[in-house]
Amino acid sequence: MEKFRVTPWEVKGEVDYDKLMREFGTEPITQGLLERMRKLFGELHPLLERKLFYTHRDLSWWLDNYEKKKLIALYTGRGPSENTHIGHLIPWILTKWIQDRTNAPLFFQFTDDEKYFFKENLSIEDTKRLAFENMLDVAALGFDKKKTFFILDTHHAGLLYPLAVRVAKKITFSTVRAVFGLNNSSNIGQIFYTAMQAVPVMLPKHLTGKDHAVLIPMGIDQDPHFRVARDVLPRLGYNKPACLHSKFFPSLMGSSKMSASSPDSTIYTTDTPKEVERKIKKKALTGGRDTAEEQRKLGGRPEICPIYQYYMYLFEPDSKKLEERANACRAGKILCGECKQELIDRINKFLEKHQEKREKLRDSINEWLLSEDHMP
Ligand code: TYM
Repeated sequence: MEKFRVTPWEVKGEVDYDKLMREFGTEPITQGLLERMRKLFGELHPLLERKLFYTHRDLSWWLDNYEKKKLIALYTGRGPSENTHIGHLIPWILTKWIQDRTNAPLFFQFTDDEKYFFKENLSIEDTKRLAFENMLDVAALGFDKKKTFFILDTHHAGLLYPLAVRVAKKITFSTVRAVFGLNNSSNIGQIFYTAMQAVPVMLPKHLTGKDHAVLIPMGIDQDPHFRVARDVLPRLGYNKPACLHSKFFPSLMGSSKMSASSPDSTIYTTDTPKEVERKIKKKALTGGRDTAEEQRKLGGRPEICPIYQYYMYLFEPDSKKLEERANACRAGKILCGECKQELIDRINKFLEKHQEKREKLRDSINEWLLSEDHMP
């Protein structure tokens, strides 16, 4: 098997998730933890139930704090290098679900500096503009505005920089080189950047003067930042953050992670119905057979089908119906064309509403930024 590689900036090859968990040193989300969350929250989100969020760091500690009514917070983010695709929504959807159940304040970081450092062809004006576009997607998911604080790295530099320097002083170049795979020709912004991603963990205490337990839902590619931050923050008087890691929502071509490098196999939240239809009909791979006749005889293979995974991650919340779909596919009772068409309809229905909400928010999106008038 081709060797895979996962860093915050690159996912290559077929990801072996168990191996990745061992490499990163994260813990599996056990059935016991799932049952505890079901009890605490009254239900389990399908992303948890289906183990698409599969590892964590210190989740029990965070739940203890919630249960004992101590101060908690949520933190997640986005590196604005392009429009949002539906893979990005995975950690945000779970974050919203947790916020709805815990009422925790959420710090949402938009790292326009990061994407400027890491993307050759983007200016700092581009990444800032994209950050505002991405903010519309986050707000459109329905977060509680009173409890949700957007942070834009260049905009909030005065607040963030004095905290980032304290983190940066405790991280050596050799750590950054080993953890992130940077090297002597990496620009020095890249080398510094991880300090900026640690800072929102410090904000709840910095802004209120009180210790908080912070939970960070994210795709597992972002974990290396927090492996480093967890090492440093206790030495600066802050709690280590807890983490929740998801697997990757796949590209339409079935490769491990939906990403911008192949726009034709990526569904953006800004795509038109026609674009969604074209990409799914023309580009998406399936677990189907070569001919309809063969498929009726041998059945399809949901295990290897990206279309099926789209239902599993986002577009079939009912687990019984999901199982029925898999069984019908295996038995050759539904063909790929039907399955694709139904997915196109579901995605377009979701996007139509999402795009409407985005546009309604456009004029007031600045109000979501952390400010003197919008503070926890
Ligand atoms: P970014 O913009 O690359 O991704 C934003 C979030 O989406 C997750 N993600 C995915 N999850 C599932 N399936 C996919 N195909 C997929 N693609 C991306 C990422 O893991 C991430 O959680 N440096 C960060 C921005 C950031 C951040 C944070 C992220 C700043 N602070 C705290 C998480 C937590 C970035 O560039 O993410």
